[in-house]
Amino acid sequence: MVVARSVEEFGKVRSGWKGSVGFVPTMGALHEGHLSLIRRAREENERVVVSIFVNPTQFLPGEDLEKYPRKKEADRKICELAGVDLLYMPTADQIYHEDELRIEAPKIRGYILEGASRPGHFDGVLQVVMKLLNIVRPDHAYFGKKDAQQLALISQMVRDYFLPVEIVPCEIVRDSDGLALSSRNIYLSPEERRRALALSRALKRAGKQIQAGEREAEAILETMRQVLEPEVDELEYVAAVDRSFRAMKRIEEGDTILLVAAWVGRTRLIDNLWV
Ligand code: PAF
Repeated sequence: MVVARSVEEFGKVRSGWKGSVGFVPTMGALHEGHLSLIRRAREENERVVVSIFVNPTQFLPGEDLEKYPRKKEADRKICELAGVDLLYMPTADQIYHEDELRIEAPKIRGYILEGASRPGHFDGVLQVVMKLLNIVRPDHAYFGKKDAQQLALISQMVRDYFLPVEIVPCEIVRDSDGLALSSRNIYLSPEERRRALALSRALKRAGKQIQAGEREAEAILETMRQVLEPEVDELEYVAAVDRSFRAMKRIEEGDTILLVAAWVGRTRLIDNLWV
């Protein structure tokens, strides 16, 4: 495995490659969720690139940029063992320039739900993903369904800017107790972790209600609130949207995502269910 830290180093290795390239962009602190993306990229491509870059522009003032977990050495080993060909670990001054051109998230879908709680977050995500896609030039880029709104907006950017890459959505990976894997789970105390299970439990119960025939989105969301409210410290939202993130009044199987965002202690958690 080659480790590249600059665009030039990366380009030298990349230019010698033939065959398809799969790309997994990450912010590091790799866990089983990232590994599932890397494994899929490994299966479907001749070459696999992983990037690790804690992107400052997607953190809002007061968010956890400084304390976001950084585990460079462990991450490098994980990538090596997973058969990654090229690990790209740039610094912020290589990625960002002074007074640079900005990509902006769409005015509606970029500013609802996650975008309402974290205004400007998706501008930063799209800005860095655009750059990384242009540097890496992958055939396939792998993103987890857990960040469903991020996935929808990146897919929209690829469509709107005619980028020559296929975005591959990958399933959410959960611990055996149901908690969706996230680099931020390490912030949870054992007691908070127990309460955090309400997120996956609420989604599971909603899924069962849909299987039993309920189609009114409001009835499903009310079930989720009833599971969540006694456990979490602040429920930011529950929502039912279609795959393009338009709000839905009636659940349509094959085109609905149920979403939740909540605070447990000082940790903000998200989860969702693709119906
Ligand atoms: O999902 C993430 O880890 C980040 O938002 C991403 C896509 C790597 C961009 O910084």
